[in-house]
This record gives sequence, structure tokens and C-alpha cells, in this order.
Amino acid sequence: MRRNIVHPGAKSLSYAIREIVQVGYKMRQLGVDITWENIGDPIQKGEKVAPWIRQILHEIVDQEVSWAYCDTAGVPQTREFLASQVNSRGGVQITPDDIIFFNGIGDAVAKVYGFLRREARVIGATPAYSTHSSAEAAHSGYEHLTYDLDPRNNWMPDLDDLRLKVKYNDSIAAILMINPDNPTGTVYPMEVLQEVVKIARDHNLFLIFDEIYTHIVYNGCKTTHLSEFIGDVCGIAMRGISKEYPWPGSRCGWIEVLNRGKDQMFDTYVDSLLASKRLEVCSTTMPQLTIPRVMGDSRYAPHLKQRAATFQARANEAHAALSGIPGVLVNKPSGAFYVTVMFEPGVLSNRQTLPIANPKAKAMVEQITQGVANDFRFVYYLLGATGICVVPLTGFCCRHDGFRITLLECDDARRRWTFDTLAQAMREYLASA
Ligand SMILES: Cc1ncc(COP(=O)(O)O)c(C=O)c1O
Repeated sequence: MRRNIVHPGAKSLSYAIREIVQVGYKMRQLGVDITWENIGDPIQKGEKVAPWIRQILHEIVDQEVSWAYCDTAGVPQTREFLASQVNSRGGVQITPDDIIFFNGIGDAVAKVYGFLRREARVIGATPAYSTHSSAEAAHSGYEHLTYDLDPRNNWMPDLDDLRLKVKYNDSIAAILMINPDNPTGTVYPMEVLQEVVKIARDHNLFLIFDEIYTHIVYNGCKTTHLSEFIGDVCGIAMRGISKEYPWPGSRCGWIEVLNRGKDQMFDTYVDSLLASKRLEVCSTTMPQLTIPRVMGDSRYAPHLKQRAATFQARANEAHAALSGIPGVLVNKPSGAFYVTVMFEPGVLSNRQTLPIANPKAKAMVEQITQGVANDFRFVYYLLGATGICVVPLTGFCCRHDGFRITLLECDDARRRWTFDTLAQAMREYLASA
């Protein structure tokens, strides 16, 4: 090429959750039966969308308007419905213009970081969810800035770490939180949330809260929305239907812009998000049309409650199966549908192995484990030996070794097998050298 055509942020675009799939596919070609535990797609893991939600979609398919473009910001009556839901919670009050639709939070993330001024940084948690961390790193051209979540304190944020990083790095313009969190499954208590708001207020930052899992909370935790505790700080809450209906293939999510009028620069920035969406015309229309009908239906609250109860039972099942292994730390999740398993420092080495019966898979694992991080090594051996495909924790912009599994498997026997096999594999691997 006459010019260098590669974006300076190109090397930051990594997504461990999907990258492991390529290895899984190769392993499958070699004859290994794969149990996909890498991706948070409830449908792929066997969940059936409730018949009444499907029925609403059938009816919407028959409306002509469903097939048309919609307003750039989204379908007006849906934005009105969502704004009134926010307002009914009694915190920050918004108008329908404060709701902007995107093709999933994934699209919102690309715009929110992509249209920030290059020198303006967003600090997020480590372990980090790759869509945010990669987009922020690509936008800035530097490694993603992070504050620590503490595995010994149920993955709560180290607020001193956050406070100091914000104080001494004036390029930081915003704090990101995912609540409930991916990959840890932690739900942040009000004291923590209020302290994060205080840090933002003290340093004149805005907040980005990814609330895609906000209605999947259990084990005694409660849903809290950013609008309820943000006070007068500017913020963006990200919501969607991928995990709730669940309908990840809808590619439908939205942002709620909070306290837009409180800061002129924030207001101009939000305008640029809408302007960038305008260049694409609009987001998917049909899923937006379902929202007032599905979320406004009297069956929706029981639907959410029943799903939360299901994930609670599975979280407790996973915790019971995976905890108690020396050198392994497992926190019980209270939201979303993931469990993060961490190996204590020093327990992994580059000599540990698992027996792999398939000779071709064994050869492949021996080859791809050369020079990789210790938790990637475990994950590849696990894949070759058992077919279970999990995501290494260091793939989440994280210095701790470990991996993430999901709570999504709907086949009870298969889920039980997965957790038990994982526990057995960890014991065997740790004892192997
Ligand atoms: C924290 C978080 N945010 C956003 C998404 C993706 O949301 P969407 O399907 O709306 O793009 C995911 C998907 O796993 C996620 O875990």
C-alpha cells in the first residue's frame, strides 16, 4: 500500500470470547465434541423464548411499519415508553429525546467511544468485558485504562485504586461500570455505586453504566438503575433486550442519557452520537416495536422473576461444584449468567497438562500452548481433553489467571456434567506438575 492504511487502534480489537471459537472449530474438525461455554447467548444454549413474547412478535411482523426505517433515535412511542419507565423510578427525569436506539449495545459502545475526543479516556474495571475495553483502547490508541476488581472481596471495585487513578490522570473523562458485571456476575451495592458517583462528581467526569443484565439479579440482590442514584452527574445507561427476552439476534439496544442539560460539552457530545447514527439512517425497527408491548405486559415481571430464579439455582449449583479446590477461588455470582473461576497466583505453571485421548487434538494442543499465558494453556488443555470451551480470564484485560463459564446450559444433565468435569479437570491439571 502506498500509505499505511492500518488504524493505530487496530491491534486493540480483540475479543477473547469469540477468538477461542476458532480454536474450538479446529478441535471439532479433529473429532472433539465441543461444549460451548464461551458465549453469553441464551438461545444458543437452549433457552426457548416465552410463547407470549413470540406471539407479540408474530403480530408485529404483520404490521407494515415494522418493515420500514424508523426515526434515527428510534421509534417515538417506544422511546416515550422507556422514558416514562425511567421517570417512574423517581430519580433523574428524562424525555423521549434522551433515549437513543442502537443496533445492540455493541453498536452503542462503538459510537460512545468512537466519538469521544481521542485524548479523553474512559476507565473501566479489570477484568474487563472486551467490547468496552477494546473499543476504548482502539479509540485512544493506548491500552485500556483500568481499576481493579478485588477477587478476595467478591470482585468489588478497589475504590482507592479508582480514586487515585482518576485524581492523577486528567485524561480520564468518564468511569465505566457494568452492573451486574460481566465476567464476574457481581452486583454492586448502593454504597459502592454512590462512591463511584462521588468520584465522578468530584472530578467532573461522566458515567457510563452498561445495564444489559440489570434485570437478571438474584441471591438477595436488587436491581438498581443509574438514574436512581446518579444525582446531578452526567451519565449514559446502556440497556437492551439481548439478555432479557432474550433476543440477542435482534441487535437492539438503547442508551438513556441522564442530566444532559447539566453540561454543555456533554450535550454536544451526545448530539454527535445521534449525528453518527443519522449517517446510518436508524437502528433495527421491528425489535423496537415489540418493547412497549412486551415490557408493558403484565407477564413481563413474572417472566424476569422466573429467569432470575433459574440463574440463581444454576449459580449456586456451579459454585457448589467448583469451589473447595485448593488454589482455586470462586465467588458466587448474584447477577448476569457467568461465573469467573480464578487460579491463585503461583498455582499454574507451563508444565501442567491433562491427558488428551485424541492424538491429533493432543498434537494441536501441544503446539498452540507454546509460549501462551498460563490460563490460556489450561483452557486449551481443557478443550482438548474434555471439549469444554471456556474463555481465559487474561483475555478479559486481566492479570489474574482463570476462566469464565456461563450458567446458560438448559439441559440439566449436560450442565451438571460440565461443572463436574471442570472441577475434576482443574484438580487433575493442578496435580499434574
Ligand atoms: C456487558 C455486556 N454488554 C453488552 C453486551 C452485548 O449487548 P448487545 O447484544 O445489546 O450488543 C454483552 C454481551 O454479552 C455484555 O455482556
